[in-house]
Amino acid sequence: MNPGKKSGIVLLTSAIAALAGLLLGYDTGSISGALGFIADAFHLDTVGKGGVISIVLVGGILGALINGIVADRLGRKLTVQGAALLFIAGAAASAFSPSAGALLASRFVLGLSLGAVSASAPLYIAEISPAAGRGRLVTLFQLAITIGILLGYFVDRSLTDSGDWRLMLGTSAVPASILLFGMSILPPSPRWLIKMGREEEARKTLLKISGGDLSHAEAELNEIRHVMSLETKGGLADMLRPPVSSALVTGIGLFLVQQFVGINTVMYYAPSLFREAGMGSPDTAILATVSVGVVNVLATFIAVWLIDKTGRKPLLYAGLGGMLISLTAIGGIFAGGSDGGIGTGRATVIAVWFYIACFAFSLGPIPWLIMTEIFPLNVRGRAVSIATMSSWGANLVVSFSFLPLFETTGAAFTYWLYALVSLLGIVFVWRFVPETKGMSLEEIEERLLSEKR
Ligand code: BGC
Repeated sequence: MNPGKKSGIVLLTSAIAALAGLLLGYDTGSISGALGFIADAFHLDTVGKGGVISIVLVGGILGALINGIVADRLGRKLTVQGAALLFIAGAAASAFSPSAGALLASRFVLGLSLGAVSASAPLYIAEISPAAGRGRLVTLFQLAITIGILLGYFVDRSLTDSGDWRLMLGTSAVPASILLFGMSILPPSPRWLIKMGREEEARKTLLKISGGDLSHAEAELNEIRHVMSLETKGGLADMLRPPVSSALVTGIGLFLVQQFVGINTVMYYAPSLFREAGMGSPDTAILATVSVGVVNVLATFIAVWLIDKTGRKPLLYAGLGGMLISLTAIGGIFAGGSDGGIGTGRATVIAVWFYIACFAFSLGPIPWLIMTEIFPLNVRGRAVSIATMSSWGANLVVSFSFLPLFETTGAAFTYWLYALVSLLGIVFVWRFVPETKGMSLEEIEERLLSEKR
């Protein structure tokens, strides 16, 4: 066997699939900068602006649902490719939109694609990865999200003078095209191939990703076949019974915590947050926002480094603990009465950086990873879709509730509420999240099935 070759192929495969995360992040990062120009072009009021942002989330919920219908039938690879194609169409249509209605429709299509790809890409990566490196490889998906967010900020900043919002939106067709063509040279998921009874192709893929180690590939094939023989048929009723139902609680719960700690309120509203806390000029506030993006990328490397070493749960505890402290502090700063002074501004920036860093190495990547690990193969595509839908749905709820909450109850209460979610998150992880470090997907499934018995 050639271990270097083995890890090279798997890394390349994961890196291409992770590009899907870049698309997701780019939209989050670029839309806020483009929004002002779009509003001017189409004379949008606050409701219209909110619609331009949130229509993607509505599409995301539906896209994740569609993934559930197609990912188990067509396979993970084809689903990612179909979503990439849809994304290119959506990005081009957004860039050329002649009216607000056309823009909303294009962004809905973009959302459909993002919903599907956010479920299928992590799943594809997990099913092609070796057990010992699966955490790190799926974390590449989250790393790409964070890089995409930063890229979005930078593209916006470089186009601010020209106000070219069409280019801001259209640029994302480039990584989507790379994803589409990159995926065409990659093999389908070996686990999905076995599920479909295409064993010869699965054997070839397993051989390729194990660096030509025939005995290793055979052993893996047998293990997957064995675990499949223990499974039930995977109908709708099975989804409502343990072990799938309890795994759904884990997957959905983790995404609810991920969104209800308020991460995207910081992503979208960081400039106003810093201004509110006294960070003088709009320029300083935008710079502070870019720094948020940088911290987000850098701290994700902590997860890449540690996730397969310390495991998933210790990172979740540390991250949630850190978020609890920083959110309490942010609330405290606002409760103390922001005096508009530079001191308050600095304290807010530091607390926000700490909060982002803690999110980036824990709640950022881990829900995407855990959702690919805890479901039996026969329902995995569908179950992952349900978990992903909850992420998009919760994101929508948070983005709609944030401003009214902020305006009616005040900043302090809003952030303390998010702090409370972090605290509940710690209890949830302790009670409902299994440790999956170093185990193959089949070992995890066998453990779940035996717990059921
Ligand atoms: C979340 C996104 C969030 C991003 C921030 C992702 O894991 O799903 O909603 O914007 O992390 O890095």
